[in-house]
Amino acid sequence: MTISKQSKKRRLVPPHVESLEAYKPGKPPDELKKELGLERIINLASNENSLGAPKSVAKAIAEGVANLQSYPESGGLTLRAALAERYRVKVENVAIGSGSESILANIIRAFLHDDDEVLTTEGTFIGFYVLVNAKGIKMVKVPLKDYGFDLEAISAAINERTKLIYLCNPNNPTGTIFRRKEFEKFMSLVPEHVLVVLDEAYYEFAFKEPSYPDSMTYRLDNVLTLRTFSKAYGMAGLRLGYGFGHDRLIDFINRIKLPFEPNILAHHAGMAALQDRDFLLKTIKMNEEGMAYLTTELDRLGLRRIPSYANFIMIEMGSQEKAMRLFNGVMRRGIAIRPLPAFGLPTCLRMTIGTEEENRLLVRALEETLKAE
Ligand SMILES: Cc1ncc(COP(=O)(O)O)c(C=O)c1O
Repeated sequence: MTISKQSKKRRLVPPHVESLEAYKPGKPPDELKKELGLERIINLASNENSLGAPKSVAKAIAEGVANLQSYPESGGLTLRAALAERYRVKVENVAIGSGSESILANIIRAFLHDDDEVLTTEGTFIGFYVLVNAKGIKMVKVPLKDYGFDLEAISAAINERTKLIYLCNPNNPTGTIFRRKEFEKFMSLVPEHVLVVLDEAYYEFAFKEPSYPDSMTYRLDNVLTLRTFSKAYGMAGLRLGYGFGHDRLIDFINRIKLPFEPNILAHHAGMAALQDRDFLLKTIKMNEEGMAYLTTELDRLGLRRIPSYANFIMIEMGSQEKAMRLFNGVMRRGIAIRPLPAFGLPTCLRMTIGTEEENRLLVRALEETLKAE
């Protein structure tokens, strides 16, 4: 039967899939370079680690290539045990996946059905919106408050169909955090049957802040923590993320998960990265220094920045037109930063903190663009 004949009788895809749009990647760097006549493009648009990946990881991958003919260890017990030891939990409390986004996808697939609703904020990680929409689940979004999660408004919006609440701390793309006190009050108001997904993709950049509520210090039965090797460990291209939660929740996630994700090289790489404390410390130091420098410089340029606890800074330009002018000017000078209409923040721009040189070039590009106006 052809698709067109079939579609007369039955829909090819459900309406919520019909209305989705495929992810639109940016132009490949080589194409952009040609178009703009540039020799080099610095990507400060994706919150990647400008230090690259740890050398220890490259070595582990090279060694792991000898095992490429084999499927990865089913259940990922070695890597899960290493994570369990590091975070002082049981192996049964640890999930791994091809990026934390894959674990998020499995959580959505495992727990949401029928008239369940999810609750979150406007202006948070777009990947979450996409996954929920792809499943056709109703999503309620509360407005941001001062560019951060309004936990009071979120708790007030819980209804009898609310099944899952997504929080992101620090929040992408705003960089803000909610504090221990706010989180504790919030959790006291969330019914136990409501799952809270706490996305801590940028945890390593925030944990030093004393008021930051590291979800692993609470061990709440209805909280699932998500973390990643993509950011602080510089391994975004490998796709390796992990999560923690109550045994029962992790068991359901494992039932849904593709049995052999993440791939075997990611397993090797994760084990090596966990041992590489020096790389992590170097990343955190680079970020702290970059944050201090960019904070001072953005203030000097009169750009309105939102205080950030992550490896990026968001600025508020006041209008989409101004934001796009600055974005285009910086792009023409060889630096990609992130406009945020898809996140629901069209008047803002997000820039990743890079190496000292990248940060200097970013400031120069911002300054030149502003002066040219
Ligand atoms: C808040 C947040 N969660 C999850 C992810 C995805 O992480 P991963 O690469 O582990 O899938 C990102 C990536 O940008 C992110 O910003």
